[in-house]
Amino acid sequence: MKLTKETALKKLKIDKEFYENLIHHLPEKVFYKDIKSRYIMINRSFADDLGIKPDKIIGKTDLDIFPRRIAEKYRKDDRDVLRTGKPKKIIEPYCPPGKKCIVECIKAPVKDKKGKVIGVLGMAYDITEKVNLIKKLQKTLQKFRQTFNDIIKAIVDIIETRDPYTSGHQRNTVKLACAIAKEMGLSKRQIDNLKIAASLHDLGKIFIPMDILNKPSKLNDIEFGFIKTHPCNGYKLLSDIKLLAPIAKIIYQHHERINGTGYPEGKKNGEISLEARILAVADVIEAMTSHRPYRPAHSLEEALGEIEKNAGVLYDRKVVKATLKLFRKKHFSFK
Ligand SMILES: [Fe+2]
Repeated sequence: MKLTKETALKKLKIDKEFYENLIHHLPEKVFYKDIKSRYIMINRSFADDLGIKPDKIIGKTDLDIFPRRIAEKYRKDDRDVLRTGKPKKIIEPYCPPGKKCIVECIKAPVKDKKGKVIGVLGMAYDITEKVNLIKKLQKTLQKFRQTFNDIIKAIVDIIETRDPYTSGHQRNTVKLACAIAKEMGLSKRQIDNLKIAASLHDLGKIFIPMDILNKPSKLNDIEFGFIKTHPCNGYKLLSDIKLLAPIAKIIYQHHERINGTGYPEGKKNGEISLEARILAVADVIEAMTSHRPYRPAHSLEEALGEIEKNAGVLYDRKVVKATLKLFRKKHFSFK
């Protein structure tokens, strides 16, 4: 059906009323400013906040309404949109009389038919509750992290009290394992898990008799059989705690060797997680360079020689490469 001029004007009027109604009933604050940041239009929600009628805003600027510091910030945002011709999303304070809140504001350029920017259209949402909730959650998370770290520290203290030879070993292993992981570009989450796994990697030794742990001579096969149970026992202690399940898996595999000669399962190559392959190398270097009841400490070069000789055999090649780089080029030190 062809529109007559009269019906077209009628339709235009209805459309205009419809959109005006829609804008005025939106709970968000809607505004339109010209290129000098003078208000042309605001909706009812915004006007109610300011305590004026929508038509009384025409010609005013933010300096007439808000504290100077905030008004200048709004003006700067307007200028950015006018200059770039691109929309901008801003989270900022909003303080009409008697109120103080945070809003997320989207400002978009208004262009004429030729594409010239002629104003700024904006819509602001009150996100104060959301921001406060996030702050609260962050505080709770911080407290939870602190408690979690305190529990890990308490467990480490128990292990070290029982086996004084591991005192310092776990701390040094943590330091080296994390440095290797960083050198290899592991993610923050992987490094965080590796840090805890390295702190607790010998937790399972609490089930091994003290006589065997502190024996001043070489262990016989039966005694060594006891020692070999510690990755499994550590895993059993931690795997039921959902949060520690990925850490338990690293601990379980830290004595596996990539040619399948390790324990407890004799897993090979990719069957062993990267974190466990890193922990294995850090554990060996630290253990070799430390004094034990049954042998004196090896030199650092001897320990590095051991992993270099067995790169691709017992230890992951890339992990060995990163470790050698740390010690020989980046002067890594346990101190
Ligand atoms: Fe171990």
